[in-house]
Amino acid sequence: MPDVLESLVSLCKRRGFIFQSSEIYGGVGSVWDYGPLGIELKRNLQDRWWKSMVRARDDIEGLDSGILMHPRVWEASGHVGGFVDPLVDCKNCKRRFRADEPTIKGTPGAPDAQCPSCGMKGTLSEPRQFNMMFKTFMGPVEETAAVVYLRPETAQGTYVNFLNVQQSMRKKIPFGIAQIGKAFRNEITPGNFIFRTREFEQMEMQFFVEPGTDMQWFDYWREERMLWHRGLGLREDRLRFYDQRKDELAHYARAASDIQFDFGGSLGFAEIEGVHNRGDFDLARHQEFSGKKLEYFDQPNNRRFLPFVVETAVGPNRTLLALLVSAYREEIVEGEAEGRTVLGFHPALAPVKAGVFPLVKKDGMPEMAEKIAADLRKQFPVFYDESGAIGRRYRRQDEIGTPYCVTVDGQSSVDGTVTIRDRDTLAQERVAAERLGEVIAARIAAG
Ligand code: GAP
Repeated sequence: MPDVLESLVSLCKRRGFIFQSSEIYGGVGSVWDYGPLGIELKRNLQDRWWKSMVRARDDIEGLDSGILMHPRVWEASGHVGGFVDPLVDCKNCKRRFRADEPTIKGTPGAPDAQCPSCGMKGTLSEPRQFNMMFKTFMGPVEETAAVVYLRPETAQGTYVNFLNVQQSMRKKIPFGIAQIGKAFRNEITPGNFIFRTREFEQMEMQFFVEPGTDMQWFDYWREERMLWHRGLGLREDRLRFYDQRKDELAHYARAASDIQFDFGGSLGFAEIEGVHNRGDFDLARHQEFSGKKLEYFDQPNNRRFLPFVVETAVGPNRTLLALLVSAYREEIVEGEAEGRTVLGFHPALAPVKAGVFPLVKKDGMPEMAEKIAADLRKQFPVFYDESGAIGRRYRRQDEIGTPYCVTVDGQSSVDGTVTIRDRDTLAQERVAAERLGEVIAARIAAG
């Protein structure tokens, strides 16, 4: 697959999808801000996940837990001791790398090892363990007792609330708890635009099941999640599973399967979602560290047990990058000298659903087009544009992925019809202006 990341970084900035954080100060490492179109696209993605995981099911409940938690949570979860990456420093250029960075020549710490950045030999330190959690202080005193962490995953907020949700909602096992929220990791080598950043979001669901049924549920969720990604319009040949080997598993996992997407270029296939069988690792550890029983009471059989957990964990930022990569195309248009750039998003995900234009700025066309835009805006985001040649206006919408463009022309004031142009087929059809809302809504739904 071709590398389109560079073209996308520039398009995303130019068209209001994604900006570098604190750009006027020279930027801050691997944090990105979502502009007007980026936030619409991300919201559409998150809403779609929430709808399919929470609203459309009666066995999953929602939750929004705090980013800051009791520091003991992270001791219990294993993150204080185990959420580490081996890191090496270059004493010459002061850059830091993961010890397994493939561009390092030789063994870090040895005289022959060469820094991949400045090229000096013998300047790389021996690997040392670097904890990826961000620390901060709770309250006004900066002392060890007040240290708290920014959560590196949303999952732990769910585990500590397992009984609160189960009892308040009277849930019976199997059931799940889903949440969407920020997570923070002090990644040593962030990069590839929004693929790996230090501040990002997660959409995670923890499914609590009876021990012994966990692998069945693991297989079920593995398939369900793949279907969800395909439903976003991500091409089947760019998606695949990667089943982790035993020696690759995280400390909490009994089994793990990644859903990977082919980002093209040097990144290639990379994880966008992880499905994990976490057994009772987390609940058992929280029970031990908090001293509070977290067992589920199985009333019909009058027994108590710690459920096993099957987790689905996906990043909206990474999935959004996959959507951009898969939607991006440059093409020649027959009969036109200029080519066009298109973001061919699934219509339901596109940030703007319709562009509305008067063909020319006279004969009552702008007034009629403005009224149409105002009416359609009650249903979905619409962009009104009256400046420049009509061809340019179409191309501006193609570039941001708007699936439909509506044009008011000379015939519109005579018979109340307008043209509707399809982004992908370029076909234009006349429809009654008063039916536009239902026509576009039906096309988005059929998507
Ligand atoms: N609770 C399990 C967990 O956090 P993970 O595989 O480390 O599992 C899940 O993370 C998902 O979160 C990843 O598949 C990815 O989409 C997203 N993610 C993780 N680290 C990220 C980072 N530094 N930047 C952007 N997204 C990230």
